[in-house]
Amino acid sequence: MAESMKGLKRTCRCAELDESNIGQEVTVMGWVQKNRNKGGIIFVDLRDRSGILQLIFEENEIGTEGFQKAMKLRSEFVVAVTGLVTARSGAVNENLATGAIEVRASALRILSESQTPPFPVEEDSKTKEELRLKYRYLDLRRPDLQRNLILRSQVTALTRQFLAEEGFLEIETPILNKSTPEGARDYLVPSRVHPGSFYALPQSPQLFKQLLMCSGYDRYFQIAKCFRDEDLRADRQPEFTQIDMELSFVDEDDVMDVNERLLQKLFRKLLDIEVPLPIQRMTWQEAMDRFGSDKPDIRFGMELHDVSQIVKECGFGVFTGALEAGGSVRGINAKGQGAMPRKKIDALVNFAKDFGAKGLAYLCINEDGSYKSSFAKFLTPEELEALVKAMEGEPGDLLLFAADANKVVYDVLGNLRLELARKLELLNKDEYRFLWITEFPLLEYSEEEGRYVAMHHPFTMPVEEDLPYLQTEPGRVRARAYDIVLNGTELGGGSVRIHQDDIQEKMFETLGFTKEAAYEQFGFLLNAFKYGVPPHAGLAYGLDRMVMLMAKVDSIRDVIAFPKVKDASCLMTEAPGAVEASQLEELGIQVLAGEEPENGNGYVG
Ligand code: AMO
Ligand code: AMP
Repeated sequence: MAESMKGLKRTCRCAELDESNIGQEVTVMGWVQKNRNKGGIIFVDLRDRSGILQLIFEENEIGTEGFQKAMKLRSEFVVAVTGLVTARSGAVNENLATGAIEVRASALRILSESQTPPFPVEEDSKTKEELRLKYRYLDLRRPDLQRNLILRSQVTALTRQFLAEEGFLEIETPILNKSTPEGARDYLVPSRVHPGSFYALPQSPQLFKQLLMCSGYDRYFQIAKCFRDEDLRADRQPEFTQIDMELSFVDEDDVMDVNERLLQKLFRKLLDIEVPLPIQRMTWQEAMDRFGSDKPDIRFGMELHDVSQIVKECGFGVFTGALEAGGSVRGINAKGQGAMPRKKIDALVNFAKDFGAKGLAYLCINEDGSYKSSFAKFLTPEELEALVKAMEGEPGDLLLFAADANKVVYDVLGNLRLELARKLELLNKDEYRFLWITEFPLLEYSEEEGRYVAMHHPFTMPVEEDLPYLQTEPGRVRARAYDIVLNGTELGGGSVRIHQDDIQEKMFETLGFTKEAAYEQFGFLLNAFKYGVPPHAGLAYGLDRMVMLMAKVDSIRDVIAFPKVKDASCLMTEAPGAVEASQLEELGIQVLAGEEPENGNGYVG
């Protein structure tokens, strides 16, 4: 017997009331969080997106009929209550914004009833995420998720406001596009009108935003949905949102400047945190050498040390073998961890092996200055002393070394450094350390494809002085690309784009594209560039990641209303699903035998 609004108006949200409203009659609407019937008096905690408000029902105030109705209330019923704001009759609840007041109900409408929910709607839910995602509409009622989504909305609202003030135009670009082979795997959409042809969902608005620059829009932005069919992780979703922008007549400093001010504004207004400007810049090479990562977390030290020179002639084959093969030997110093038990060191060795290490050599410096080590016996006392000195080792320290190809050494030690920081609780959640990483390599060699591929995308401008190497030594060419990193997460990235035909042609050549193939894929862009293209540059943030860090949560799913899980499915709607055979027929599509979806009959034949 759900009642309707019948002209009743809500006067405010639950937690918008405080002691200044005492004596006022109000009408609030929301969900029953909790109800306690203490005989002649019923206490109800009412919840809406603003918070919780205590309601009091007494028969002499609400009448017999109203009181009977209040007795029926259960968790998650939706009600409208009119009543008088009064000072709390019982003890003030310091944990609630409305803890000093209550509303004494004079009228109650039950707007809808609720079944017993499959899990309690409460802050810091202990319920398994799987169940929560199945009932995401209930999960989303929880105050922590509501706060996250409210923050997300504030981030986009402020971003729009800031960028509009800076002269950016918000322009939408298409979702149904042509597939291009560079980058992650595309999501494809079959065309009915052109059987056998497919649209691709955008991995980013990259090409369109460059075209908008050609068309003179000068400063563009978009809060853009992007789709990438890649393996999911805690900070990746198959569909995610970018704050995407592009600017004409600029170079990297202009892009960085406007973005630093945007970040400063967001953090100041929404978190009351002051981001000191300018944000520190570090080249990719320096980041790799010091932190073993292109997205270093600089909230703590434990930097890498290259000890190749010191051990190059030592008697430890693991070290010299790696050096002879063109690799390096590097180490990190886990300060004060010299007494780490063998078992824990073995766990670190196994962790390193997950990142491709063949092993991890260790050296504990005992308090008396003696060593406990897996390799010290192969080194002369002089070599050992030099090694410890280079590592800034002191009694009580644990030194960990990896010897391998550079790429493996960086990856192993970069990740080990993070693992140790987590284990030793060196990461301060309240600290926000931004960093620009610049001068990325333009290209990286793909063993899989047997050719160089663009590290960012094929339209990224090489550093001018490296241009001569584009054809001779592609691996050493640096890009005018930059990433913005926050606490070890890549928040965003961008680059100065190529706007010169000859450089673009060379780039495609290096990537192994023939002229025909390049035109086949990107002809519209290459042609557009023939009609007057301004120098341009841009950047895109992962909005989800930004909000995740701002909200201090560990998973991107906690800042997305309806996220997908690891296998890219939605536990609530059960997408993706089978479709009617007739739909497939219309599209001229047949599902291979043995590939039929489990949950349906959506295949022909
Ligand atoms: P890029 O590919 O670096 O650049 O993407 C920009 C930012 O988007 C976020 N991101 C993701 N977030 C969640 N889930 C994902 N699967 C995912 N993939 C990327 C990251 C990343 O930094 N067009 C260029 C930008 C440019 O050059 O202007 C681009 O898309 O935070
Ligand atoms: P081994 O000679 O394989 O018994 O290894 C001797 C020690 O060196 C062990 O502690 C290994 O974990 C370590 N080790 C092996 N390979 C490497 C490597 N590539 N880098 C660093 N340490 C290694």
